[in-house]
Amino acid sequence: MKKGAMIGKGMSAEVYEWGDHQVLKLYYDQYQPEWIRGEAEIGMALKEAGVPAPSVYEMVEEGGRRGLLYERVPGASMLTMMQTSPTRSIKHAREMARLHFSIHRCSTTKLPRQKDILEQSIHEAKEILGEKTGLICEYLYKLPEGNWICHGDFHPDNILVTNNKSIAIDWTNANIGDPMCDVARTSIIFLSPFNSSGTPKIMTLPLRLIKRILNRAYLNEYCRLANIRYESINAWILPVAAARLQEKIPGEQEWLLNLIDKRLRVTSS
Ligand SMILES: Nc1ncnc2c1ncn2[C@@H]1O[C@H](COP(=O)(O)OP(=O)(O)O)[C@@H](O)[C@H]1O
Ligand SMILES: [Mg+2]
Repeated sequence: MKKGAMIGKGMSAEVYEWGDHQVLKLYYDQYQPEWIRGEAEIGMALKEAGVPAPSVYEMVEEGGRRGLLYERVPGASMLTMMQTSPTRSIKHAREMARLHFSIHRCSTTKLPRQKDILEQSIHEAKEILGEKTGLICEYLYKLPEGNWICHGDFHPDNILVTNNKSIAIDWTNANIGDPMCDVARTSIIFLSPFNSSGTPKIMTLPLRLIKRILNRAYLNEYCRLANIRYESINAWILPVAAARLQEKIPGEQEWLLNLIDKRLRVTSS
């Protein structure tokens, strides 16, 4: 079979049509076979655990590059849906919470542990965090553990929507741990001051307001479904914000440091 049209592009690969029901994720040259095998193993662990995620098939070679075949999910991303029908975006934010909650009810032992990943990322941000690094790690150790499946990067551009059903893609950061940590990261992404390049300056304030409203709708729905209080999500903001620093998202550093300092003041008082 030959690859069809390109339907998407990410940090690690281009994604092409492959027949009617599959896509080919074709990795950039620097991605080694072990990485791709690792991604395939994540996909299999998710299927085994009953997580709603695209099925993963075999590894293939195409034009000298390595690729992985996935089940094709037709439909647009949740981000596109939110942008094209703003009046329905609160509904979409609630749907995100429902999908996230359904993922969090699945468990496995076959994925990396959340706290290990966070700890490593926090150490990678040591140059920015300085002496706060140790304090944040000590705080992290005391937070709850779990075997619940977490997506690791759950945001509107990693969700595809078809016939009112949504499904998460891009599971390369999947892990097991406390779902509240996964929700805290989604909330940070909602509230981030980062806007994609090309966003007109005049949109900065309205976008900030819209993102706050969507974040609220998402969190309220998640708390309702999981029957939890916001405090258990808030408890994770400190290590999740610290870990995110090493991603060096444009415009985020000062904002993240502010979140971190506020919470460190509360924990030390
Ligand atoms: N299973 C799929 N079905 C349909 N489109 C997909 C599928 N997987 C990925 N895509 C499209 O390709 C894009 C990049 O895929 P993604 O897995 O996020 O790559 P990366 O790991 O490089 O970020 C997605 O944003 C989406 O548009
Ligand atoms: Mg992606």
